[in-house]
Amino acid sequence: MQLDKILQSQGIGSRKHCQLLIRQGHVRIDGQVIMDVKAKFDTTDLIFSVLAQDYVYREQVYIALNKPQNYECSHRPQQHLSVFDFFPEELLARNIQTVGRLDQDTTGLLLCTDDGQFLHQLTHPRKHVAKYYVIETKNEITQVQIEKLAQGVSLKNEKGIFAAHSITQLDSYTLRFAIDQGVYHQVKRMLHAVDNEVIRLHRDQIGQLRLEQLDLAMGEWCYLSPEEMRCAKTS
Ligand code: URA
Repeated sequence: MQLDKILQSQGIGSRKHCQLLIRQGHVRIDGQVIMDVKAKFDTTDLIFSVLAQDYVYREQVYIALNKPQNYECSHRPQQHLSVFDFFPEELLARNIQTVGRLDQDTTGLLLCTDDGQFLHQLTHPRKHVAKYYVIETKNEITQVQIEKLAQGVSLKNEKGIFAAHSITQLDSYTLRFAIDQGVYHQVKRMLHAVDNEVIRLHRDQIGQLRLEQLDLAMGEWCYLSPEEMRCAKTS
């Protein structure tokens, strides 16, 4: 691929800006300054530097963020900061999107990507990718509530029923369960439907990908390896 196109594809800037950076001698490959904008390189395992910063060429990006509270999953947040504030310019320039959304007060595993197909595979209800939540409730959890959640509840203005699976009760006020869909405020509304209320919500797993295995502090993010991406897609 041509060098100016490589830089542009990696979110470094417009084609013109990338050409300028190259002509001004700010771009290196294997430590060597390349000033020919049309020079071609194999992008497999390509590492390049721009203005002395190293980049790994990535055809598409797959990112996991340990989302803190008070961040909105939106490029145009209304009342809080945006989860996109955690990412550098070159990632934002690639127009990454969140894979589904977490509410501003929900913490935990959030994936972002510029791969529309990956996003679809993880969010489409028919793909049945489980999202696991740890849920702290206002009222003591009862067996009846657990049974209702397992059987499925209906939610206002939504078609069908919404059931939880893989339910475990961690203590009197804490549940962990998985859902396969992701309608607006789903977990909160499911708990409300069984006469309880969520006071803290944390997503700790998507498919077989556990937040714990990524070892991210709150607000930290990482690129997913191909194996981790496979885990996320596996129910
Ligand atoms: N369900 C909710 O109610 N909120 C979230 O953030 C995620 C799932």
